[in-house]
Amino acid sequence: MSGSLLAISDLHIAHPDNRAIVESLQPDDPSDWLIIAGDVAERFDDIAWVFAVLRARFAEVIWSPGNHELWTHPNDRVQLRGEERYLKLVELARRLGVHTPEDPYPVFRGHGGPVVVAPLFTLYDYSFMAPGAATVEESLRLAHEAGVVCTDEFMLHPDPYPTRGDWCRARIELTERRLDAIDPALPTVLVNHYPLVREPTMVLRYPEFAQWCGTALTADWHLKYRAAAMIYGHLHIPRETWYDGVRFEEVSVGYPREWQKRERRTWLRQVLPSRQPA
Ligand SMILES: [Fe+2]
Ligand SMILES: [Fe+2]
Repeated sequence: MSGSLLAISDLHIAHPDNRAIVESLQPDDPSDWLIIAGDVAERFDDIAWVFAVLRARFAEVIWSPGNHELWTHPNDRVQLRGEERYLKLVELARRLGVHTPEDPYPVFRGHGGPVVVAPLFTLYDYSFMAPGAATVEESLRLAHEAGVVCTDEFMLHPDPYPTRGDWCRARIELTERRLDAIDPALPTVLVNHYPLVREPTMVLRYPEFAQWCGTALTADWHLKYRAAAMIYGHLHIPRETWYDGVRFEEVSVGYPREWQKRERRTWLRQVLPSRQPA
């Protein structure tokens, strides 16, 4: 079978220039698969549009939610909060033929396969604490003092969990069970809106922001679950780095004010076949 595994994230199509980018995305081959690692948009109708457009072009589309999809935005027709909103997004994706973290993980059998493609939803628990903080409470206080507070604090509700950290820990438990059940003979491509290790957040301009960027609970997953690559977004710092011999790809488009400054604007990242010689 032919076909490549491609990835993108942080489409943020509330911005018209970003909507135009989505309109321009095309596979090289009709059997190409596309990973979308979160932050598609805030409104259900926008998210549905992206899923429908891209599902019509790519053989398979795999999605992990970003924090922006999970916001209960005052301008959205869907006003569900927390887990109810997430499950409604899963329902929407399924209806449009898009794989979600709640579905059986698909096996990519194109160039560089077979590989299990596992979209994850693990959120964050504030364990990537601000420099100098000894506790989560202190870390959050330092962020408030620095004026670096993620909008999630006001829009991403954890219901029915008491806190976003509690939701994160429940997701970790459930996700570990799913990952443990994968055929150990197969490598994986792990997809999450957040990096599974902390290192990528070390280059953030405001280190206080890292606490909204993942959890220390996933630090060994790329090794434990045989990752051929880990695909993430959220940081809006597109690049490739390697940890413990595993390739991590930040595949975000980001906001127009960010990508308009970049010289190289290639939107689709090739995950498999690997561009590195074996
Ligand atoms: Fe984003
Ligand atoms: Fe994000």
